Amino acid sequence: MAYTALYRKFRPLTFSEIVGQEHITRTLKNQIIAERVGHAYLFNGGRGTGKTSAAKVLARAINCLNPQNGEPCNECEICKGAINRFSYRYC
Ligand SMILES: Nc1ncnc2c1ncn2[C@@H]1O[C@H](COP(=O)(O)OP(=O)(O)O)[C@@H](O)[C@H]1O
Ligand SMILES: [Mg+2]
Ligand SMILES: [Zn+2]
Repeated sequence: MAYTALYRKFRPLTFSEIVGQEHITRTLKNQIIAERVGHAYLFNGGRGTGKTSAAKVLARAINCLNPQNGEPCNECEICKGAINRFSYRYC
């Protein structure tokens, strides 16, 4: 069977699904809740540790019409538009 990279099968949809990076996800969630987000973020670290995933969750949380406790709802038109994009799982 051909090898398929994990990111093409699964990508965390919420901060809570990002495992082992609570110091990052807690900080980002708190910024969403406080509506105090930075003008730029640099995600630094080893391959496959959740940088792209965290950036995608953060982007939705910032733009979400109905964020819940710092998480994107993943149900509003903005969230759905982001998730349904072909590129979501493939980049
Ligand atoms: N901390 C994590 N929690 C849950 N899944 C993860 C985590 N880090 C990586 N993954 C999984 O590995 C895949 C690649 O992660 P990704 O966020 O693209 O890593 P990076 O951008 O840091 O190289 C994701 O789609 C996800 O399935
Ligand atoms: Mg990446
Ligand atoms: Zn939403």
